[in-house]
Amino acid sequence: MQDEPHPLALVVGGGSGIGAAVADALRARGTTTVTWDIAGSHDVTCNVTEPDEIDEAVGVTRMRWGVPTTVTVTAGVGHAGLLVDTAPEEFDRIMRVNARGPWLCMRAWVGAMREAGVPGSFVAVSSVSARLVDRTMGLYCASKAALSMLVEVAAAEWGPLGLRVNAVAPGVTRTPMLGNSRAASVEGSPWLAGVADRTALGRLGEAGDIAQAIIALHSMEWVTGQVLECDGGLSLHSPIDSYGATVRAQADRHTGNG
Ligand SMILES: NC(=O)c1ccc[n+]([C@@H]2O[C@H](COP(=O)([O-])OP(=O)(O)OC[C@H]3O[C@@H](n4cnc5c(N)ncnc54)[C@H](O)[C@@H]3O)[C@@H](O)[C@H]2O)c1
Repeated sequence: MQDEPHPLALVVGGGSGIGAAVADALRARGTTTVTWDIAGSHDVTCNVTEPDEIDEAVGVTRMRWGVPTTVTVTAGVGHAGLLVDTAPEEFDRIMRVNARGPWLCMRAWVGAMREAGVPGSFVAVSSVSARLVDRTMGLYCASKAALSMLVEVAAAEWGPLGLRVNAVAPGVTRTPMLGNSRAASVEGSPWLAGVADRTALGRLGEAGDIAQAIIALHSMEWVTGQVLECDGGLSLHSPIDSYGATVRAQADRHTGNG
């Protein structure tokens, strides 16, 4: 019987937010974890928009730690702007970080994992914005839609090599991407208070919530090609949800809660 490969986790984007929470959770359970990033605390500096840097980071990681059994790609950037106003160069920039970068990082490991006989698992971090329309977030939505589809195609192409590929799609999650000031809190932002209220579970997501889903997906041996929405029920509402809100308000008035 072949020995189980020693678990080694790679987190691309592990310097902040969700990636840092994944790295912390894995290390807390004793898994050797390597982080790549361009900011924050990280083990290997790698800009995911640069194919040469990815190749170099793969080389350094193999030499110092080995071939990972799980690769999580959380590296990404937000973007706001109306489609009619946004400069064409912005399209390329956002796509390069949010869609091309994760694809390049994942595929850079396929050959090495195959050679090492590692039954590897990839999880990329997409977004509910891959599926939902937000005015002023067109480029972000498009980049995450591209990433979700790349994950599905990769799952089909790499499954026969023993590799699983999935995505987690968070809703609004409290990380430095939202900003660090009070304006990025439910108390300081009417927008975020509204978002928290719209979730079924009544609060914003935390980086640890998303990390939990990522780590769970890595361990699900019969799951591949899935985009797991992890948003506390934020995206459950249909376009006619205002009807439900009206009924609830009426019920509250009857029971004296309103
Ligand atoms: N926070 C949210 O509400 C939310 C919602 C949905 C999806 N997401 C996605 O979750 C992922 C993690 O975001 P977060 O909220 O933890 O934000 P974050 O800003 O805290 O972390 C993003 C990390 O990606 C790194 N990064 C950015 N560009 C990079 C590049 N070119 N090369 C290498 N690393 C790069 C940053 O340095 C940072 O450490 C992102 O892909 C984001 O789009 C976040």
